[in-house]
Amino acid sequence: MSVLNIFYEGLKGKVRIVRGEGVYVYDEFGRRYLDASGGSNASVPIGHQAQPVIEAMLEQARKITFVPMHLFSNEPAELLAQELLKVSPPGFGSVSFVNSGSEATEYAVKAARQFWMSKGRYSKFKVVTRWQSFFGNTFGALSFGGHTFRRSRYIPYLQDMPHIPPAYCYRCWFRKDYPDCDIDCALYLDRVVKQEGPENVAAFIAEPIVGATTGATVPPKEYYPMVREICDRHDLLFIADEVQTGVGRTGEWFCMEHWKVRPDIVTVAKGLSGGYTPLGAVILAEHIAEQFQREGLSIVGGHTFNANPLSCAVGLAVIRYIVENDLVSRCRDAGSHLASSLRKVQMGHSIIGDVRGLGLMVGLEFVRNRETKEPYPPRVGLCHEVAREALESGVVVYPGSGTADGVSGDHILLTPPYIITMEQIDELAKALDGAIGAVESKHPPST
Ligand SMILES: Cc1ncc(COP(=O)(O)O)c(C=O)c1O
Repeated sequence: MSVLNIFYEGLKGKVRIVRGEGVYVYDEFGRRYLDASGGSNASVPIGHQAQPVIEAMLEQARKITFVPMHLFSNEPAELLAQELLKVSPPGFGSVSFVNSGSEATEYAVKAARQFWMSKGRYSKFKVVTRWQSFFGNTFGALSFGGHTFRRSRYIPYLQDMPHIPPAYCYRCWFRKDYPDCDIDCALYLDRVVKQEGPENVAAFIAEPIVGATTGATVPPKEYYPMVREICDRHDLLFIADEVQTGVGRTGEWFCMEHWKVRPDIVTVAKGLSGGYTPLGAVILAEHIAEQFQREGLSIVGGHTFNANPLSCAVGLAVIRYIVENDLVSRCRDAGSHLASSLRKVQMGHSIIGDVRGLGLMVGLEFVRNRETKEPYPPRVGLCHEVAREALESGVVVYPGSGTADGVSGDHILLTPPYIITMEQIDELAKALDGAIGAVESKHPPST
């Protein structure tokens, strides 16, 4: 038994990756795989082993790799904070660094809570969230999230937070069709806040596009403007979790820019350090940052490696690489080619119920019956079968289950590096076509 299995059940019998280059990773036998998941869910925006990042890492490693932030500041952290504010929309005023998306979630909620406390609004603590969302695997982040399986084992340790339905048009919880609905999924926020009492609610948290748990579900264009208005009306802070969608993946530096909606707090991680080192960040709107400064507040959210100079030097090199190579607009072009290629693949396989997403964040939802949208029974593990077949065909994808209702349903999520070429997208689509065909023959649809 490998000791790794204790922590990573998923590794049993899995391929051992020994090196990477660009959009490809290689196993110990020299076999090549196109990394269409970007490491693990959107973590490798500029590809593996980009030389400028390796050089920045080495350069920083020669200077200093650890600086305790409770005592000192460090140059890479300061430069990265400035760079992040430069690429953020106007109106953001400060950046704090942590080590992961989960830590960023917890830090963001702490910031929201302290903001209201500093205004004398002590009863405001609840965080309204959505079913089928994911903000990380720590107890706090699981409490604020809504992924049934990931929460289920640890429920005794979780906080009870109000959950509202997701913005999930393909399986609308209100059995309506866009655009003939009233965007009930957004209106539900208003209803829940009234029921909980706005005086008890500190924030609403959402992933602009839900990644891991529903496979790139994009809300209708009216959704976030309505959410913003409801938050303002009830004095709620809006926390946007851009851990997957941030740093350019959807074709804007931050996904909320697609709807011209400004959150109060933004979290980023994953792609921020390009998969080279662990790093996360929390970006505060100016009005929050100013309040913290005015009142001399600090957040009790210190972790030993926060704002680590090596990770921040890497983050800085990643952001500069994206800027210098104009990769955000590339995500738009490559993303539309990816989506259209996958829609062509969909035509040949009735088990692909939906193809959706924005930029280089695209999801495929699988169904047993395209007409009724009936999912495969969970025991089939369809998304894992697709991921296994895809790997056999030389492509890495991220599988997800519980898509339909938290328990049943399957999808795969594709978040390849921004540097993927059109030819590599064709290669990806062809491999997926074959892999999905193989799974379809093994588990035929019900029509
Ligand atoms: C949207 C989102 N937020 C937060 C997290 C947690 O990030 P981490 O795994 O770095 O703790 C994830 C991880 O998948 C995520 O997808």
